Amino acid sequence: MSNIKITGFGDDLTVNGTRLGDLSPSQHEQIELNNGGQNYKPLENVVVSHVQDSSTLICRKPDPSNVQAYIEEEILDGLCCYSAVNQGQLNQTIVDAVVKHLTEEKLPTVPRSIRHKYMSGLLLAITGITGMEKAVPKVAGVESWELTFKLCRRWGYQIKKIPQNKAIIIGAKGNFHGRSVAAISMSDDFDAQNDFGPFTPGIELVPFNDIDALERKFEEKGEYIAAYSVEPIQGEAGVIVPDDDYWDKVSKLCKKYNILLAMDEVQTGYGRTGANFAHQLYGIKPDIIGCGKAAGGGILPVSFVAGSDEVIGTLTPGSEGSTFGGYPLGAIVGIYAIKVLEDQKLAENARIRGAQLMNHFEDIMHEFPNKIKEVRGKGLLTAFEMHNKPHLDGHKVSVNLMKNGVYAKETHHSTVRIAPALTIEAWQIDNLAEAIRKVIKEL
Ligand SMILES: Cc1ncc(COP(=O)(O)O)c(C=O)c1O
Repeated sequence: MSNIKITGFGDDLTVNGTRLGDLSPSQHEQIELNNGGQNYKPLENVVVSHVQDSSTLICRKPDPSNVQAYIEEEILDGLCCYSAVNQGQLNQTIVDAVVKHLTEEKLPTVPRSIRHKYMSGLLLAITGITGMEKAVPKVAGVESWELTFKLCRRWGYQIKKIPQNKAIIIGAKGNFHGRSVAAISMSDDFDAQNDFGPFTPGIELVPFNDIDALERKFEEKGEYIAAYSVEPIQGEAGVIVPDDDYWDKVSKLCKKYNILLAMDEVQTGYGRTGANFAHQLYGIKPDIIGCGKAAGGGILPVSFVAGSDEVIGTLTPGSEGSTFGGYPLGAIVGIYAIKVLEDQKLAENARIRGAQLMNHFEDIMHEFPNKIKEVRGKGLLTAFEMHNKPHLDGHKVSVNLMKNGVYAKETHHSTVRIAPALTIEAWQIDNLAEAIRKVIKEL
């Protein structure tokens, strides 16, 4: 006999007698401690409830007069799910498309072993927006990177003629590509790797933004190297923007040595950096890119790989697959995420609002030169880094920003990334910056 009972929606959603609307922040924390894996350390004393507008969330904080109760407050979403919600929370165009297709168009769910009509739309939309010849839909961001990795190896053996099992993929130090075994095999982060070995062989790292180190590696092992697999701007590493001429040099070097340039645009794509895809800022074209996050418009996990015929053409039936990659609902969301990127001019807004935010950052840095060491970013992928002193603590900044109605999160001890929705308005940027200024002042 089943011992589970589930009823209701929203606050009334009740699982075995526990009604979600009755839980205080500390009770939520307790349930996560008891019933969940501890692979995250979320901000303390706050639980997001629902959306107010495209950049504003309603969250619950402990009631100061009774910790078993909560109060509700607005918070400005300064992270938008690590760039998964570039189109803004509950983007109306995407939500309408989902509802219409589920209710009126009677959207089916079918696997890839039978064609469905929406796949054509998705492939045309992805190749159209990326300017690539072919695309393969996937689900999570890490899967797009993983498939890129596999395709680079396959191209290495079949086209470049690297001897079997000798292919090398070069990555950049400080990279983040997700949590699969191959992705953490490329990582140099202790927490990501610890006790998860043995790792995928055939991976070597070079320092990011060091063209000489890359050239030395290509000279030394070029005949075995299939690809340089890399983020155009390193997001998780703390928004590390390379020199303006780095990618042009890398692209030329890759061509010289017949090595693929594979870019992970999971975080930098979909207008985030002020261009539809960050590589376009540098006037280069990679052989293959992986996208995720905002490819699903903040509504569903949607990702894909897009690239040249020569690379993606190495796939054969049975060599790759995904139950939900490009299934009808994923396809609709994927198509409309692209439509919104274009129609709502998200890249342009990222450029304009990013410049506004960066001006504020520079003012704050000049006001507090002993606290802020550097500000950096492209478009609305931005960060400020504090000097490396114990009291200049990124986590404390995140906690205090939350007290001032802003959600942002440190990436390392002293760096805080700010990456709001690309639909954000001028006054919201001003509010965000004012909260940061106040928090930095009080440190
Ligand atoms: C550059 C990059 N690649 C891959 C991923 C992994 O995406 P997901 O968490 O959807 O698997 C991320 C996530 O932050 C990312 O920033």
